[in-house]
Amino acid sequence: MEAKSAPRKIKIGIIGGSGLDNPDILDNRREKHVDTPYGKPSDALILGDVGGVECVLLARHGRGHTVMPTNINFRANVHALKAEGCTHLIVSTACGSLREDIHPGDMVILDQFIDRTTKRATTFYDGNPGSPLGVCHLPMDTPFCPHTRKILIDVCKELEIRHHESGTMVTIEGPRFSSRAESKMFRMWGGDVINMTTVPEVALAKEAGLCYAAVAMATDYDCWRDDPGHHVSVEAVLKVFKGNAEKGVRIFKSAIPKIAQRDWSAVLEENRVTVSSSIMLPPS
Ligand code: ADE
Repeated sequence: MEAKSAPRKIKIGIIGGSGLDNPDILDNRREKHVDTPYGKPSDALILGDVGGVECVLLARHGRGHTVMPTNINFRANVHALKAEGCTHLIVSTACGSLREDIHPGDMVILDQFIDRTTKRATTFYDGNPGSPLGVCHLPMDTPFCPHTRKILIDVCKELEIRHHESGTMVTIEGPRFSSRAESKMFRMWGGDVINMTTVPEVALAKEAGLCYAAVAMATDYDCWRDDPGHHVSVEAVLKVFKGNAEKGVRIFKSAIPKIAQRDWSAVLEENRVTVSSSIMLPPS
């Protein structure tokens, strides 16, 4: 009889967006400063646990919110978390709403994205010295891990937090917000929410073979509405942050032990095979 192999050990990376980069979410914390072949991540990694489940927290914009979206070293962030042993990334991101029924304060468990970024490194396989060999043409039909998303959705239901089970994120380059014409166009394209950071983070996580899921927290209605009282501004975003961050912490704290209860061996193996079969190597 074949011996059943032990489930793969998991570790959960948390990338905290604006408002959810507070290390208090972790117990038994310690800081670790790391470097990667792609440069330094946005800040120190904070190692710790949630209910005994090992986690690593990284503030996407740095703890002082000093790194603007274009300058975030997404490759270093994802590489550092993978090198620390993370198998999952659960992330938060503030966003604008492109839909009447996604209210400021609502959570959206993203399932798709539209990439409107222009200045970012989007692959680890870039042909530079130190990068892995080959060119990676990764399928992106399912950017977010459906299994991890399902746990986040179930937790939102359990906690009775207003949420949307799916949503398409439009990621713009920023740092400016969109023009009204752009905002209306994104709505016509099928965008549901808008931010400046989901891409390339989600694609890099998939290239790294990680299970990645995002809780997008609506803070404003961008600027597509005729009523200018609702238009996005830093002030409007900051106002909604605080309540959203508290909801995000509750979602993550409940989701992490549930993620740890599952056996992820088959999912992680499937991720690995998807990546390895997407790499075109030079002829030998
Ligand atoms: N982050 C929060 N609100 C946003 C918006 N309206 N556009 C882009 N990024 C955002």
